Amino acid sequence: MNYVIFIYSFFILNSSFKLICSECCNDSWTTNHLLKYCGDGNFVHGSYCSYGSCNIFGCNCDGGCISKDQSWIRGDIVGCRRVKTSTKLAYIHTFIYAGNGRIIEVIPNKVNNGSMADQRNDRETDFCIVMNGMFFTRLRDFGLSFTQDRETILRRAEKIVNKSWPYDYFKNNCQHFISYILTNNRHTQLPGIDIDQVQFPFPPWNSELPIIDD
Ligand SMILES: *[C@@H]1O[C@H](CO)[C@@H](O)[C@H](O)[C@H]1NC(C)=O
Ligand SMILES: *[C@@H]1O[C@H](CO)[C@@H](O)[C@H](O)[C@H]1NC(C)=O
Ligand SMILES: *[C@@H]1O[C@H](CO)[C@@H](O)[C@H](O)[C@H]1NC(C)=O
Repeated sequence: MNYVIFIYSFFILNSSFKLICSECCNDSWTTNHLLKYCGDGNFVHGSYCSYGSCNIFGCNCDGGCISKDQSWIRGDIVGCRRVKTSTKLAYIHTFIYAGNGRIIEVIPNKVNNGSMADQRNDRETDFCIVMNGMFFTRLRDFGLSFTQDRETILRRAEKIVNKSWPYDYFKNNCQHFISYILTNNRHTQLPGIDIDQVQFPFPPWNSELPIIDD
C-alpha cells in the first residue's frame, strides 16, 4: 500500500515538473574559453538565458527566453558556430553583416564579399548569433579602444574587401579580423574570442595590414 502511494506521488511530482519545464530557457552557450554567453551575444546573467529571473529549474522565466537566432542589421558582428567534426574542434566563424544578405569575412588570403545564406547553409553550421557584445567585452578586457558604431565598422570593412589577408588559424583568423576592424590597430596583439588561447610574442604581428583611413 505505501509503495503504491509512493509511486503515485512520484508520478504526480514528475508530471508537474514536466509541465513547468515546457517553458524553460536553455542555459548559456559556452565557448572554448569557457566563457558563458546567451544567444544575444551577452554574458549570461544568473544561470539561464532569460530576460528576467527563472525558478531554480530555469523555468517560468519573467520576460521569456533569449533566443539564439536573432535578426541582424547592417554593421552587426555575426558569428556562426561550426560543430565539432572528426578533424576540427567546434569554432565560431565571425564576420560583418553588410545588409541584404551580404557579409564581409576573411578567408585565407582574402577579405571576401560573401553571402549570409552560404554561412547558414554550411553543413557544419549549428546556429548564428549577433556577437557585438561578446567582442566589445573582450576588447574592453584587453584595455583597447574601439568603435561600436555600425557605420564605421561597415565602412572600414568595405574598404578592405578583396585585399589580401595574412590568414592564420591561430593568430590571424576571422575573430582577429573583427578586432582589427573595431580597433583599426595592426600593431597590437588583438584578441579573438574563442580559439586564440595562445599568445604569440612578436608584435607588430599584423604589419602587412593597412591602417584604414576613416
Ligand atoms: C534550446 O535548445 C534546443 C536545442 O538546441 C533548441 O531546439 C531550442 O529552440 C532552444 N530553446 C530556446 C528557448 O532557445
Ligand atoms: C559585394 O557584392 C555585392 C553583390 O553581392 C556588390 O553589389 C558589391 O559591389 C560588392 N562589393 C565589393 C566591395 O566588391
Ligand atoms: C572584388 O572581387 C570580385 C570578384 O573577384 C569583383 O567582382 C569585385 O568587383 C571586387 N571588388 C572590388 C572593390 O575590387
